[in-house]
Amino acid sequence: MTENNHEKEHFEKKAETTGHEWDGISEYNIGAPRWWLIVWVICIIWSFIYWIFYPTWPVFGGNTKGTLNWTQQSQLKESQSEIDAIRSGYLEKITKLDLQEIQKDPNLMEFSLVGGRAAFKENCAACHGTGAQGSKGFPNLNDDDWLWGGKVEDIYQTLLYGIRSSHDKTRFSQMPSFGLDKILNHEEIENVAEYVMSLSDKSINNPKGEAVFKANCVACHGNDGKGSRSVGAPNLTDSIWLYGGKKEDIVYTVTYSRAGVMPYWNGRLEDATIKQLALYVHSLGGGEK
Ligand code: HEC
Ligand code: HEC
Repeated sequence: MTENNHEKEHFEKKAETTGHEWDGISEYNIGAPRWWLIVWVICIIWSFIYWIFYPTWPVFGGNTKGTLNWTQQSQLKESQSEIDAIRSGYLEKITKLDLQEIQKDPNLMEFSLVGGRAAFKENCAACHGTGAQGSKGFPNLNDDDWLWGGKVEDIYQTLLYGIRSSHDKTRFSQMPSFGLDKILNHEEIENVAEYVMSLSDKSINNPKGEAVFKANCVACHGNDGKGSRSVGAPNLTDSIWLYGGKKEDIVYTVTYSRAGVMPYWNGRLEDATIKQLALYVHSLGGGEK
């Protein structure tokens, strides 16, 4: 006798059939398993509870509401207003505190950097690039080469009032157009361009250009060519160029001058947003203490 037959015989002894028979196939009369019954009853009880508290039966014009008055919209609204409450709490603090104080609070800082990054994408990336890497005429904000200063307060001021912008308090300076205004002739400009190149490339030497530089350029760029932040004059001794370091680029800059314009944001963005932006830019790698 095989294992299966043995089992079948054992089973038949215990179980009655319902008495129905179709083509020799009859049906055992066995109740549903106990575990199944228990689950079934729990489901029924659960569905009653659910029906009382939550919206369930479809009826004309909607559904039964349930005593909790729960809807997906009300849940969304609730979590949204929780988020808004937290956000406006942070923003209020940022508006009140000064930048140093914000920097001391890790939560506020984290919030500011996230907000600053989003505001940067929206308002600044068009000119400075999504990674703030800059391009010709638009400074890279990741490096530690600053025209107007890299302390968070300096950056904040740059953002508030802009550079050569239409705001009364804008940062302002104007390099003369030495060629256009006939302050220097073309030969002098070529010489001074070579001298400027020599400041970062020791293989170049131009004493005539040095004389022109000392006479015309040091007021803003400094005796050593290292620039001056009070007038936003770039350091000419590093190999970081805003408008290009080839001879023809420098000749163009000295002939026509450039005068890049950075818009002001005071009044166009919330003060809290401008602070977040300043903190974000400061955090990019070149921020100074
Ligand atoms: C319309 C183009 C434009 C937009 C938009 C713009 N900038 Fe600028 N930004 C400039 C230019 C051009 C300069 C360089 C000005 C100069 O030559 O001194 C500059 C300079 C700066 C500086 C000073 C860098 C230094 O070395 O001192 C900072 C900081 C700065 N931008 C941040 C921002 C932030 C943050 C935003 C967005 C809120 C923004 N900019 C939007 C064009 C722009
Ligand atoms: C009144 C101040 C002033 C004087 C004088 C001046 N500059 Fe400038 N220079 C600036 C400023 C400000 C910039 C910043 C760029 C801008 O205008 O957008 C600049 C930019 C430059 C740049 C571009 C640097 C780069 O990174 O691309 C060069 C090169 C330069 N100056 C050379 C000279 C030379 C050479 C002279 C003298 C013949 C001179 N400058 C005189 C203020 C001055």
